[in-house]
Amino acid sequence: MKRIEDFEVTGLTWLNNENYLLECCAATKLPEVLPGNFAEIRVDHTPEVFLRRPFSIYDVNHERNSISFYIKVIGKGTRILGNLKPGDNINIIYPLGNSFKLVNGKNVLVIGGGSGVAPFLLLGKKLRQENTNITFLIGGRAEKDILLTDALAEYGDIQITTEDGSLGEKGMVTGHSIIKNGLGAFDKIYTCGPDPMMKAVANIAKKNSIDCEASLENIMACGFGACLCCVVETTTGNLCVCTEGPVFNILDLAW
Ligand SMILES: Cc1cc2nc3c(=O)[nH]c(=O)nc-3n(C[C@H](O)[C@H](O)[C@H](O)COP(=O)(O)OP(=O)(O)OC[C@H]3O[C@@H](n4cnc5c(N)ncnc54)[C@H](O)[C@@H]3O)c2cc1C
Ligand code: FES
Repeated sequence: MKRIEDFEVTGLTWLNNENYLLECCAATKLPEVLPGNFAEIRVDHTPEVFLRRPFSIYDVNHERNSISFYIKVIGKGTRILGNLKPGDNINIIYPLGNSFKLVNGKNVLVIGGGSGVAPFLLLGKKLRQENTNITFLIGGRAEKDILLTDALAEYGDIQITTEDGSLGEKGMVTGHSIIKNGLGAFDKIYTCGPDPMMKAVANIAKKNSIDCEASLENIMACGFGACLCCVVETTTGNLCVCTEGPVFNILDLAW
């Protein structure tokens, strides 16, 4: 059930000069949050950032009624949110959107880059409960862009690529030796990150006949299916990512 609620900021931790973790607590018990669900956070009421900004839900703690977000600074909204202090209030609509479909007792490859890593912690926690083995393949430009792998390592094996070779294998995620050596060991791929990366991953999944879900981060305005600014072309026509996604099976996308 969707909620609109005030949260108190309980922590904001900068991970490097452009990414931070924002944690906030609700006064009431949180609803169930599924991996892939997102939230619309109100920044403030000034005209430039009047519209809420969408973020994947990174983590949830039901004992503390806390929810957290992994945010990369892109423009004004994400910069303003990065200035929040413990004790500040923010208004959040959540949980929104659909979720990744979990598989039981399988081997999965979870591929992401940038802020696309945000939904992977909850995904890892849920897949662990399903006795599924996870390999996380995380890519970035350089070592400083590879974040949160310590948290993910609790739920699976970590493989890394960096474009400059400063950490892990040099190159893009799609050139990692796991992929080059064949994907026969994997039953499913989950991906989230920049569109070109997800499209390349989708092509690899198709070639290898592996089930694959992608979580899209299309630009959103209203967040509830009214403005149509988030549409994605699918095999059955244009669909709103905010209401029909953000998670899609890649075979349903007209990529
Ligand atoms: C479902 C969903 C989940 C998301 N989850 C996360 C997350 O967990 N962490 C995170 O850091 N970001 C996430 N994003 C992206 C995030 O919503 C945007 O980065 C944010 O809204 C930018 O706001 P801003 O005011 O800082 O930038 P703006 O001033 O709104 O935009 C600055 C520039 O970035 C472009 N831009 C804005 N939004 C996006 C976008 N979604 N994709 C590409 N370019 C964009 C604009 O066109 C503009 O050129 C998610 C987006 C969606 C749709
Ligand atoms: S953001 Fe308005 S329809 Fe999806």
